[in-house]
Amino acid sequence: MKVETVTVVGAGTMGRGIAQIAAMKGCLVYLVDSSKTALESAMADYDRIFKRLVEKGRMTEDEKVSVLANISTSTDLSAAQSADLFVEAIVENLEFKQELFKAIEEFAIPEAILATNTSSLAVTAIAGACERPERIVGLHFFNPAPLMPLVEIIPGIATESSVVEEVRALVDSWGKTTVIAKDTPGFIVNRVARPFYGESLRILEEGIADPSTIDWAMREIGGFRMGPFQLMDLIGIDINYTVTETVFAAFFYDPRFKPSFTQKRMVEAGFLGKKSGRGFYDYTSEINNEPNKDIKLGEQIVNRVVAMLINEAADAVFMNIATKEDVDLAMTKGVNYPKGLLAWADEIGPAVVLERLQELLEEYGEDRYRPNPLLKRIVRSGKTFY
Ligand code: NAI
Repeated sequence: MKVETVTVVGAGTMGRGIAQIAAMKGCLVYLVDSSKTALESAMADYDRIFKRLVEKGRMTEDEKVSVLANISTSTDLSAAQSADLFVEAIVENLEFKQELFKAIEEFAIPEAILATNTSSLAVTAIAGACERPERIVGLHFFNPAPLMPLVEIIPGIATESSVVEEVRALVDSWGKTTVIAKDTPGFIVNRVARPFYGESLRILEEGIADPSTIDWAMREIGGFRMGPFQLMDLIGIDINYTVTETVFAAFFYDPRFKPSFTQKRMVEAGFLGKKSGRGFYDYTSEINNEPNKDIKLGEQIVNRVVAMLINEAADAVFMNIATKEDVDLAMTKGVNYPKGLLAWADEIGPAVVLERLQELLEEYGEDRYRPNPLLKRIVRSGKTFY
């Protein structure tokens, strides 16, 4: 089926970005939100964004007019009867999402694909409330959607494979990089990335280094675009903490994903990062701690965090969440990691990574440091991931 008409429900941060992509790719888009203000703000955003694209010569005035003409807004869902694809991007609440999909099913054509942009709920749980769960699929964009290349596609357990193929072909044709992830907590990116924050927070808590030193090490030695504390401050420490808590609970409290008290206290104090003026850094002051640029300390930090990230990436492959290629693509295209983690493991040497994890396990005796069986097998066989 050729997708020509797309209805996006929810015109917040994500929905307006997804609607923009579809409209720029020539689809007729209905953008629906229960709040008129959200719709007006989305249209004002488009005016500003497209004006800038025209100024920069990346879009002609005619293109701007035709893209804007592709978008209609409504507070009434039934205005969007004929869509080939529905993308839900409303508030992250299971019951609200279930109600919405049930309402969409009442009038959607039988061939329509119903997608959810949920980041922490199970696609299967949303689809479980519906008459035709086989038409429902997860389509997880990253913020800002028009700029971030990655989209995770998540089939629920009842999703028809043809739905997955159709939606993948469509999103690929929009110029995005798609990966397929099993319907498990955090999908790929939000699962594999946990130690980037968690292990860095642990290093801070142990007093090994302060946030500016850890950030410096991860950027300058690790090659990451942003340090973990900088990034938490940008995302919002409250938002990052909620994701950590959700993933921890969803994994039946696996100690690997245990949240940190430091982060909890920051949220309780209202130190939420950039948006509140204070997080791990003070945005109201020019003066912040200078990093300790000790190369040995920096390497120790990077080696530890990267070993934990590789262990998590190996686990995602071991547990059949995604292929090794998709795990690597997800981290480079979804969160801008400098290298795919498993390719990185091959570069470091899987045996070296395993040894680092075993040292941590021996020193701390904590389950979070247990090396993944796949990593152990690879080392035992003398092979590499690729
Ligand atoms: P948001 O709060 O910016 O926007 C949600 C919008 O949905 C609001 O405009 C609200 O008025 C509208 N809404 C709520 N209930 C509605 C209903 N029943 N019918 C119609 N409109 C309704 O939220 P955001 O950040 O855009 O997130 C949306 C979804 O995308 C959530 O499921 C979230 O987990 C997911 N997500 C968010 C990311 C992010 O970085 N913000 C990244 C990837 C996924």
